[in-house]
Parts: sequence; structure tokens; C-alpha cells
Amino acid sequence: MLKNDTLIRALLRQPTPYTPIWIMRQAGRYLPEYNDTRARAGSFMQLCTRPDLCTEVTLQPLARFKLDAAILFSDILTIPDAMGLGLHFVEGEGPRFERPVHSEADIARLHPPDPDRELRYVMDAVWQIRRALKNELPLIGFSGSPFTLACYMVEGGASADFRTLKTLLYSRPDLLHRILDVNCRAVTAYLASQIEAGVQVVMLFDTWGGTLSAAAYREFSLAYMQRVIEALAGYRGVPKIVFTKGGGLWLDDIAAIGCDAVGLDWTMDIGEARRRTGSRVALQGNLDPAVLFASPETIRAEARRVLAAYGKGPGHVFNLGHGISQFTDPERVAALVDGVHELSREFH
Ligand code: CP3
Repeated sequence: MLKNDTLIRALLRQPTPYTPIWIMRQAGRYLPEYNDTRARAGSFMQLCTRPDLCTEVTLQPLARFKLDAAILFSDILTIPDAMGLGLHFVEGEGPRFERPVHSEADIARLHPPDPDRELRYVMDAVWQIRRALKNELPLIGFSGSPFTLACYMVEGGASADFRTLKTLLYSRPDLLHRILDVNCRAVTAYLASQIEAGVQVVMLFDTWGGTLSAAAYREFSLAYMQRVIEALAGYRGVPKIVFTKGGGLWLDDIAAIGCDAVGLDWTMDIGEARRRTGSRVALQGNLDPAVLFASPETIRAEARRVLAAYGKGPGHVFNLGHGISQFTDPERVAALVDGVHELSREFH
């Protein structure tokens, strides 16, 4: 049914003629056309809540580059916003919640939102994007992990050290578990709705799990991602990707939770990651996003290094190790996408 199903095949570790590539944050501020649409919307959240504009920006990188997937334009913080925490974005500072979760009473009030009501705008965007894609490329849906969402909900925004969250974790682990339980149910329902609305792959972004100790990671992040993945197991044809930034040390544990693919940041050798996970999962990654500041020749050489490190055979989805920087020149992205398509053929 899909004209280009290379991504789906690679995620299921089936043979492909080349290595598919998409880029985390492929629709974003490095594209002047994105900045135009955002300005027209008025703010980032107004953009996120307008399905027609979400569709427009989702398609923007696809018009420029021969990417192998579209990713829903939205944000992981739509869930806590729908829980009533009052999300806004402060220019140059990132996300902020007006009503962060601090007291036991705040926690008792938390409920998973109904995705088809409070997050209807996301499902409408999924539906519109699928229509616009005309089965050319697969559409990836996503959510933050229960733990990463809790980080923002408790801190009230970004944090350098997660002091408030970690204080809660070590002094009242029972309360953090209550938040995580609500988030887990919210994330599961949200991803199920996205799948019902039309996404063909789902990805969990665990941006902050890597800040935990090994034991805390297992208890407060991985266990809840496992619950989400297991709850979605019935959606057999929809590959599930789990990405913990800084999670390379725990790769074996992540590969064992039932996901189809594991995302890697750039700190890990992807060849070693493949040897450690055997043929249990596909791997997605893991070029350092800073490579895109180099010349086209260097970009090709570094892309080839990642392809060669993974080696021959199926199961690799090329990506950056984290989101693309807003200071990236779009021309360099074209060099990467074309380079991966050309250079990867010898590995298949
Ligand atoms: O990949 C894509 O193209 C899909 C869109 C997408 C966005 N955010 C759009 C966005 C995705 C998948 C996300 C996920 C997300 N959001 C994560 C997990 C991935 C990661 O980067 O670790 C996190 C932690 C967030 C929370 C968030 N949203 C932050 C911290 C910020 C501010 C970042 C910054 O650089 O200022 C955002 C805003 C955001 N989300 C932007 C985009 C394109 C920039 C907003 C703008 O236009 O100003």
C-alpha cells in the first residue's frame, strides 16, 4: 500500500535496497519556511493546535529532501498541557508550565486526558497529514516517555540538574510513581489514538531517562515504557521505537521491553550496539547532529562511518543522535540524505 515502505521494512529488520533516513525535528527552525508558518500561526502552541498548519510544516522537509518518512508535527508536552498544567513557550528559554505539579494534592488531581477530546487537534492533524501524504511515505507518531513528561511537569520547564524531580524521586518515590502511572495511561491512550487516526510507526522520546542511575532508570523510566509498549502490542503492524538519550549503557535492557527498534544517541558505536542487541531489534541513529556544521565531504564521510559501523544487512534506520540544531544550513541536510541513500547501497 505504501509507495516507499523502506522505513517500515528496516524497522522490522527486513531487507531493503538502501538504508532509510529521517531526521529528528526535521520540521523546525532551521527551515525558513517553517519560521514563516510559525510566524503566521502567532506562536508555537497555536501552530501545534492548527491541523492545517501542522500538515503544512510536516510536509515542508519532504518537499526539500528525499526523506523516507514524515513525522507528525506536534510536541511531547501536549499531554501535560491537556492535563491542565498551562503550557507556554518563553522565547529563547523553552517550555514553561504555569501550574507545575508540586504538592500531593496536585498529584491527586492529575488524570489522563481523553485523547479524542482534549487532544483532538493532534488526531485531526494525523488524519489530514495522512491524506496529504497519499501513501507516498509512512507517518511516524510519537509521545514523550512517562518519565520525561514527569520531568517537565514537576520542574515546570527545562532544568539543568532536575533537582525538584530527583528530590521527589528519593524522598517520596510513591508520589513519583503515582505521576508515572497517570502518565503511562495517558501515553498509552494517546499513542493508541494516533494509531487509530493513521500513524504507521510510533516512537517514545525519553529525553531525560539518561540522567538517572541504572537502578532508578529501570524503576522510574524503563518499567513504564515497557508497560506502554506491552499495552500497544496488539497493534502488530505498527513498529515501535524507543529512544532514551544517554541510554547506551542500558541498551540490552531497552532492547528487551518488546519494542521493534531502539534509537541511539551519538555517543555509542552503533556496531557495538548491534553486537550487543543481536538480531532482537532494529537500531535507529546515530550521527552527531554537529556533523551537519561541517562540509558536504565531511558529512558524507561521517555518514559512511556510521553505515560501515552498523555493517551489512537489514535493521538500520539512519538518523541523527538527537534533534537537528536550528543553526543547521538546509543544504547540508540535502548532502546527508543523498549521501546516505547513495553510500548505503553497498551494505544491502
Ligand atoms: O521531529 C519532528 O520534526 C517532530 C516535531 C517535534 C517537536 N518536538 C517540535 C518542536 C518532536 C518529535 C518534538 C519532541 C520533543 N519536544 C522532545 C523530545 C525530543 C528531544 O528533542 O529530546 C522534547 C524534550 C520536547 C519539548 C520541547 N519542545 C522543548 C524542550 C522545546 C524547546 C526547544 C528549543 O530548542 O527551543 C520545544 C519546542 C519545539 N518542539 C520546537 C519544535 C520545532 C521549536 C519551537 C519553536 O518553533 O520555537
